Amino acid sequence: MKKYFDLKEKIEEQGIEEAGIGIQKGELVLFPTETVYGIGANGLEEKAVKKIFIAKGRKQDNPLILHIANMKMLEQIAQNVTNLEQRLMEAFWPGPFTIILERKPNVPDIVTGGLNTVGIRMPSNLIAQKLIEYAKVPIAAPSANVSGRPSGTNIQDIFEELSEKVDYIIDGGQCEIGLESTVVRVINGEVHILRPGKITKEQIEKIAEKVVIDSHILGDLKPNEPVLSPGMKYKHYAPKSKCMLIYSKENNKLVETIKKRAKEYENPLIVCHHHNINQYENENTKVVDMGETLEEISKNTFKVLRKVDSYHPDIVMIEGVEKEGIGLAVMNRLLRACEHHYIEI
Ligand code: TXA
Ligand code: MG
Repeated sequence: MKKYFDLKEKIEEQGIEEAGIGIQKGELVLFPTETVYGIGANGLEEKAVKKIFIAKGRKQDNPLILHIANMKMLEQIAQNVTNLEQRLMEAFWPGPFTIILERKPNVPDIVTGGLNTVGIRMPSNLIAQKLIEYAKVPIAAPSANVSGRPSGTNIQDIFEELSEKVDYIIDGGQCEIGLESTVVRVINGEVHILRPGKITKEQIEKIAEKVVIDSHILGDLKPNEPVLSPGMKYKHYAPKSKCMLIYSKENNKLVETIKKRAKEYENPLIVCHHHNINQYENENTKVVDMGETLEEISKNTFKVLRKVDSYHPDIVMIEGVEKEGIGLAVMNRLLRACEHHYIEI
């Protein structure tokens, strides 16, 4: 890292400008968005984008999202945009929403993994917006984490992992949402949700008649099964410790099941709702608080997943949430972290 800019308390444009010029020169910038941190590079320069894949250890067939600051930038990279796609962008941009569109030829193959489509997002985070404006080009940015690890939602969590792999770090504090953007693709007039996020199916249904949640979002994927989004194929978010996700609509049942199962292990760690902490206190277990509301839980999910290994547990038992609203996105990330070890009672 050449430079670190601390913008946690106050946004100073000078640092953002310097990092934006760095992007123009083909350098890497770690920067905040409202969802998670990104590792950004000039999205129109193959050489610069290549550095991202090396920094993350990411598979080349897993395409990146291009981040834009205005609709002029969209014209540079996408074509044949339909009326429905236009309405979706108007409704959810700037914000935690990524749309897969037909790409223009000047988008390098390395960004799209050779596909004829490109993922595009206009973030609402002010630092991210200004960085793209100063860079004057769409910024290619995956989530800030080494491939397979939980996404970074604050600089402390990822400093060790990434600080030597980027040129600039912009610290904007903890990300507001904490889970990556909703990814959609319109196919024959239907909106397919390829990755759930803060923008929910119900919100999209206000814009589009038919909204389909891709079956892979909550199901386990069979080897070599074709997918609409390459990212679905890869192991993601998993701590080193063995994890198990448990859910019941009835809180008593949930707690009793976890207590009973925890007894089968020597050193269990329980990740639970704030209101259940007392319930596990008498047990011979360690407990991590994941928050109370769905908003708190989504914000904390990756922070907690990064922390569990430090307890050296022989099992991590995680309380699930209802798959409603952003709860679907939380459960999608937790299921993957638990490699689909899931019990619903
Ligand atoms: O919130 C976010 O989206 C964050 C911040 C930094 O903006 N970015 C992010 O990027 O999560 P990444 O690379 O970690 O995840 C992008 C996902 C991957 O699962 C990828 O396979 C999918 O989007 N994707 C990207 N381009 C695609 C395309 N053309 N077709 C299908 N899926 C695509
Ligand atoms: Mg990612």
